Amino acid sequence: MVSMFRDGLLKGKRILVTGGGTGLGKEMAEDYLRLGAEVYICGRRKNVLDETAKELMDRHGGSVKTHSVDIRVAQAVDDMVGEIWADGGPLSGLVNNAAGNFISPTKDLSPRGFDAIANIVFHGSFYVTHAVGTRWIADKVKGSVISILTTWIWNGGPFTVPSAMSKAGINIMTKSLAAEWGPYGIRLNAIAPGPFPTEGAWARLSPGQSTDGEGSREGIPMGRVGEMDELKNLATFLMGDGCEYLTGQTIAIDGAGYSAGGGNFSRLSKLTDDDWGKMREMIRSANDKDKAQRSV
Ligand code: HXC
Repeated sequence: MVSMFRDGLLKGKRILVTGGGTGLGKEMAEDYLRLGAEVYICGRRKNVLDETAKELMDRHGGSVKTHSVDIRVAQAVDDMVGEIWADGGPLSGLVNNAAGNFISPTKDLSPRGFDAIANIVFHGSFYVTHAVGTRWIADKVKGSVISILTTWIWNGGPFTVPSAMSKAGINIMTKSLAAEWGPYGIRLNAIAPGPFPTEGAWARLSPGQSTDGEGSREGIPMGRVGEMDELKNLATFLMGDGCEYLTGQTIAIDGAGYSAGGGNFSRLSKLTDDDWGKMREMIRSANDKDKAQRSV
């Protein structure tokens, strides 16, 4: 573990990480906990959240609380944020990490397929930011929002169009609200990661490919995928105090993949309809496995 920060850096902070039960969300939640924050995680699978909370508290002590919520439902989001406020006072930070994505030729997407992703990423991230931000303004407290985006917000996301469109929207939300809510002491920044292989994302973005990073290095000048500690350190830097003049920014952490040629899925143009049929089946079975565990 390569930590750049002193123990207790985030003591006194209360942070909500959406989609914090797995993947990048779990990693960031762990670092916040380790550095002294009280952490809340939410997601659709209560059992997964509870297991993660236990695992992290066993490892680091402290407090991780879980909320089972589908962020596509605005009222459910507002209820959850209200409960968090009632539980111990205002949050100090929010990480918009929850997302949905799968690779697909756009010609094969149904409106429901588009909505499944846009409702999570575009609408859901707004609902959570709005529910938290309006309370910060009412309570006259400062706060920090970090959204997890992708470099495709700058150059387009072939084969991931609903996600690229939605994340591009959250990029402009970051800039817009940094300006609108700056007077309240609220800052918003975003992280645009290159490949940081996790089980949830790889099952839908690189089906059949292992998460060890093999096969995901192509086109990345640094010749490797990202290391979780690197992402965690950036997420902690943006959440911590000491650089609060930094707001409205989206920072890529991608080994220069984007600068070198895009870092997106344009290479998938080579796939045949048959290849896509197989991909879709693999993605479907990953989705079905997740769905069977959902509590909302
Ligand atoms: C085409 C598909 C499809 C596929 C689903 N659909 N999978 N279409 N190809 N592979 C279509 C379905 O046919 C259906 O439309 C519609 O989408 C809704 O499907 P459901 O399974 O009912 O959706 P739902 O249960 O709401 O699940 C949402 C989901 C699922 C997005 C489809 O994947 C999910 O819950 N994902 C959450 C976790 C996740 O995706 N993690 C990876 C994030 S990675 P019809 O018309 O048939 O009814 C990420 C990385 C960003 O965001 C960038 C990194 C660099």
